[in-house]
Amino acid sequence: MSATAIQESLAISNLRVSIGGSAILRGINLSIQPKSVFCLMGRNGVGKSTTLKALTGLYPADAGSFVLDGQDITRMPAASRARAGLGYVPQGRDIFPLLTVEENLFIGVKARGEKIDKSEVDRIYTLFPIIREFLHRKGGMLSGGQQQQLAIGRALLTKPKLLILDEPTEGIQPNIIDQIGDAIKMLREEGRMSILLVEQYLDFCKELGDDFAILERGSVAASGSMDELTDDVVKEFLTV
Ligand SMILES: Nc1ncnc2c1ncn2[C@@H]1O[C@H](COP(=O)(O)OP(=O)(O)O)[C@@H](O)[C@H]1O
Ligand SMILES: [Mg+2]
Repeated sequence: MSATAIQESLAISNLRVSIGGSAILRGINLSIQPKSVFCLMGRNGVGKSTTLKALTGLYPADAGSFVLDGQDITRMPAASRARAGLGYVPQGRDIFPLLTVEENLFIGVKARGEKIDKSEVDRIYTLFPIIREFLHRKGGMLSGGQQQQLAIGRALLTKPKLLILDEPTEGIQPNIIDQIGDAIKMLREEGRMSILLVEQYLDFCKELGDDFAILERGSVAASGSMDELTDDVVKEFLTV
């Protein structure tokens, strides 16, 4: 790579996905700058989660490429993409209800046969004190918001280059939304990773995001820096 080239944290180019013969994503291009928070927005059913599932390798793509910190991950299986630096928290968060909070937290790192980094664990306890407090409870005993915090903690423990959050505020009480927002701010200030945030909660995006893209029927309808997100755009593509 030449010294003048600016390397994105993530570049998605011409992503096309179809499910059961119908085109769901029709050529998505996204570029996430290093150490930034990127908000992917849009109404229900426009293809936000499908974009994340294609990126993480859970859905096959018909076309397109993914480059993470200069590394082409397009042809890697999902586990290798995770190892390459994608930390994914799916919509609905996927906590194992019968495992303890501690087991849930470490399962991602242990599954890879990696050692648990004590300082990283302490950092997660600082971000989300509730995890330490409830370490020995069953995951299913936590509230939805606490499960969301646990799922974010589990993803962070893998030390991702890109943290991917799919609607982390969905169905969660306001005080925990605030805590998750504070955590995202802290991670952004630390500057160790970029964050791809899928959200429908507009004020949350406006407060945290550096840049945005809005999907509409599987295409990018609008994009730019967050201060370019006008009321007209919000009205056209986001207001229900
Ligand atoms: N596994 C699937 N099977 C069938 N249709 C799907 C599947 N996943 C997504 N879709 C369809 O793709 C479209 C986009 O879905 P999704 O990416 O989940 O939207 P969003 O996350 O923006 O709400 C929707 O019409 C949805 O019904
Ligand atoms: Mg979704």
